[in-house]
Amino acid sequence: EKEKTLAIIKPDGLYDNCTDKIKNAIFDSGFTIVKEMLIQLDEEAAMSFYAEHSSRSFFSSLVEYMTSGPVLIMVLEKENAVADWRALIGPTDASKAKITHPNSIRGMYGLDLQKNCVHGSDSPQSAQREISFFFKEKSSGSAVTEH
Ligand code: CMP
Repeated sequence: EKEKTLAIIKPDGLYDNCTDKIKNAIFDSGFTIVKEMLIQLDEEAAMSFYAEHSSRSFFSSLVEYMTSGPVLIMVLEKENAVADWRALIGPTDASKAKITHPNSIRGMYGLDLQKNCVHGSDSPQSAQREISFFFKEKSSGSAVTEH
């Protein structure tokens, strides 16, 4: 049965023009992009999206990074989408991924622990929450402003 996950190409990924390469990797791995939205996150939206990290030392830096330029939000669909997308993007620390997972998206296009070029939901529950964060039912409006 098909499953959905939330993927984000972060500001460094868009800035470095990696979008086409990342999308090719997405299609080559059998995902369908069912929704897509290019947006500029404001501070409030970034803080709310990453609320689970609000007590971490890197939180303000993370919010600054994620609001530093536009991000491409995508809903990906395939069987086992959540785990397969996490496997395709590789470990959080892109500098380590370059050594341990050189063919992963973070290994190829990420930079370091923070600038790791892409996001992936970490569980089916997170995927549902994250998808509805960005793609609310039409009547209720979205948490973010689309540009
Ligand atoms: P992601 O796992 O998609 O979501 C949380 C993000 O916070 C993570 O990607 C990194 O971009 C960033 N992050 C995680 N851990 C650290 C850290 N120790 N220092 C700086 N940034 C981090």
